[in-house]
Amino acid sequence: MNKIKVNLDKKTSASYEIYIGENIVDRMGLIMAKNNWASRYVMITDSNLSTSHGEKVQATLREMELKVDLIDFPAGEASKNFQTNLRIVDRIIDLGADRTSALIALGGGVVGDITGFIASIYMRGIPYIQVPTTLLAQVDSSIGGKTGIDLPEGKNILGTFYQPKGVFIDLAFLKTLTPREFRSGLAEIVKYGIIDDPELLSSLEVEAEAIRNRDMSLLEKIIARSCRIKKGIVEIDEMDKGIRRILNFGHTIGHAIEAESRYSVSHGDAVSIGMVASTLISERLKYLPSEDRERIISLIRAIGLPDRIPKTLSPTGILSRIKRDKKKEGDTIHFVLLKKIGIPFVNGSVSEGLIGEIIEALKK
Ligand SMILES: NC(=O)c1ccc[n+]([C@@H]2O[C@H](COP(=O)([O-])OP(=O)(O)OC[C@H]3O[C@@H](n4cnc5c(N)ncnc54)[C@H](O)[C@@H]3O)[C@@H](O)[C@H]2O)c1
Repeated sequence: MNKIKVNLDKKTSASYEIYIGENIVDRMGLIMAKNNWASRYVMITDSNLSTSHGEKVQATLREMELKVDLIDFPAGEASKNFQTNLRIVDRIIDLGADRTSALIALGGGVVGDITGFIASIYMRGIPYIQVPTTLLAQVDSSIGGKTGIDLPEGKNILGTFYQPKGVFIDLAFLKTLTPREFRSGLAEIVKYGIIDDPELLSSLEVEAEAIRNRDMSLLEKIIARSCRIKKGIVEIDEMDKGIRRILNFGHTIGHAIEAESRYSVSHGDAVSIGMVASTLISERLKYLPSEDRERIISLIRAIGLPDRIPKTLSPTGILSRIKRDKKKEGDTIHFVLLKKIGIPFVNGSVSEGLIGEIIEALKK
């Protein structure tokens, strides 16, 4: 089992460990018992996972004499709302959870964001642990303590920074992921390679096929490497005031594509196309050498991610969504661009004309 420590500023948050391995739920139970984080646990999961994985994890933890209840909610982003959260809180109260209790987030990013959010405000804050079950949650959302729920006005409008007591990444969960969800995580891993780790990028190039085939020992290495990159960035900028922004590489255009397709294009596929767009913009602005552009696009193709915008989507629609996004941060669209592979930077002066041109050029 791999162990990675997230070292945070003691004044704001306590440090914690990320554990990575295959079939580690029993060892997770031992660590929970040893650390004595709580007198009892409420595990929160979604309706797709409750019987398949939730009950098994609950049984294993109960065998280790941990008191664990299980709550589920309907799977999907639509549940990241206020009403569903209040219903979950009602059930936590009914179970009698108090300040000596802790929550367990068993699921993808939706479960993690909701559980972290509730943990951060339930009785002014109780501990929680992350047990991410999607590749995206394992390499991204479970690390770094960002929690949140959506409002009709936008995603993650209500949220907190609240770090878990521990993150337990069990590769066995990845076996039941759909190809679409698996690709979502792959897109984030490719992103880490591009923005931070040319060596990771090389191993993705060499092992693209084995990764697509979910070779577990390879995935373990790549997930550990991705977690190291994310935790390194979070350690420097826990509250997302500076360098953490580079994690948005590919996401500005990606989010617009995702929303414009009414979420028929998955997050991973949209981010992949967004990364291609940001790569092309970086090259056009003469920051990025063309060999780097070629390398990025070849890898994206080799790993099975898309590099073109579906022809059903309107470029004007995508552009107006990007512009709407810009309202969030004054009047500038902040793009993460590349000077070279491994050297990203934030640029606030990409013209609308250039963005429109690149979107048009990327249509199938
Ligand atoms: N907090 C952060 O830092 C952060 C970062 C990135 C994304 N996010 C959030 O994460 C969310 C997306 O996360 P996601 O992609 O994991 O989505 P998700 O949680 O909705 O999971 C995707 C689907 O996969 C299913 N699933 C989960 N694990 C499975 C498994 N092992 N086998 C089979 N099916 C499984 C789920 O039931 C769901 O239907 C978004 O809400 C996004 O805002 C948060």
